[in-house]
Amino acid sequence: MRRALRCLLLVITTHTARGAVALITGANGGIGAELVVQFARAGYDVVAACRSRSAHVHQLVSKASVANRVKVLLGLDVTSPEKVNAFVDGLKRQRTAVDVLVHAAGVATWQLSSVVYPGTTEPMTLGSLDYGLVARAFEINAVGPLRLTEACLKEGLLGTGAKIAFVSSKLGSVASNTRLGANYAYRMSKSALNAAGRSLAVDLRPKGMSVVLLHPGYVATPMTGDRGDVVATVSAAGLFRRIAALNASASGSFIDYDGRQVPW
Ligand SMILES: *[C@@H]1O[C@H](CO)[C@@H](O)[C@H](O)[C@H]1NC(C)=O
Repeated sequence: MRRALRCLLLVITTHTARGAVALITGANGGIGAELVVQFARAGYDVVAACRSRSAHVHQLVSKASVANRVKVLLGLDVTSPEKVNAFVDGLKRQRTAVDVLVHAAGVATWQLSSVVYPGTTEPMTLGSLDYGLVARAFEINAVGPLRLTEACLKEGLLGTGAKIAFVSSKLGSVASNTRLGANYAYRMSKSALNAAGRSLAVDLRPKGMSVVLLHPGYVATPMTGDRGDVVATVSAAGLFRRIAALNASASGSFIDYDGRQVPW
C-alpha cells in the first residue's frame, strides 16, 4: 500500500515537473538564433524573443528539428519600457518561470550609423561623433538588458537558481583598449553593460542567482558584415557550455566563449 502510494506520488511529481525554460533576446540575430538551437537541443523550452523579424530563427530551428521546443515571440524592443513591460506581463500570465535569461540583443554602431548616413561605413569616428547614435547604442546595448532583467525580477519570473547571461564584448574591456581605440559608442555601451552585470551579480548573490558576462569572439554575422574569426555555431556552442557550467562562485565573471577570462 505504502509502496503503491509512493509510486503514485512519483508519477504525479514526474508528470508535473516542468522543463527548464530559457528566454533568449535578440533571437533572430546571428548569435541569438544559434543560442536558441543550442538550448533547445539541450532539452530547454526556449522563448525566443525578437524585436521585429524572425525569419532567420524560424529557419534555423526548423532545420535543427527543434521547433517543437521553441516559442518565437515578436515585439520585444528592449529600448521601450512599455514593450518590455507588456512582454514580461505576457510571460507572467502564462506562468512562465525563466531558468536562464540570455541577453543576446544588441547593435553595432555601423548598423545604426548606416541608417542615418547611408553609403558611409564609419562616420562614428573622433571628430564626427554623432551623440544621438552614441546614446542610442547605450540604450540598446546597456540600458535595455538591465531594464528587461529588472522587469523579470520584479514580476517574479526569475527565482532561486536562475542564471542571467549577457552577451557583452571584449570591445567593452577597458583594460584591453590600448592599441586600436575608436569604436566609442560600442565600447562605452558594452563597458556599461559589464558594470550593470557586475552589480547584478553582487545584488542577486543572496537570492541564489548567478550572472555572467560573455565575449562571443569576433563572430562572423550580418552585424560584422560577415567578417570574423569564429562562426556563430561554434561561438554559440561555447557560450552555451559556459552558461551551463555557471555556478555561484563563478558569478560576476567576464569570460569568452572558450572559457578564458577577459580583463575588465
Ligand atoms: C564553478 O565554476 C567554476 C568555473 O567553471 C569551476 O572552476 C568550479 O569548479 C565550479 N564550482 C563548483 C562548486 O562547481
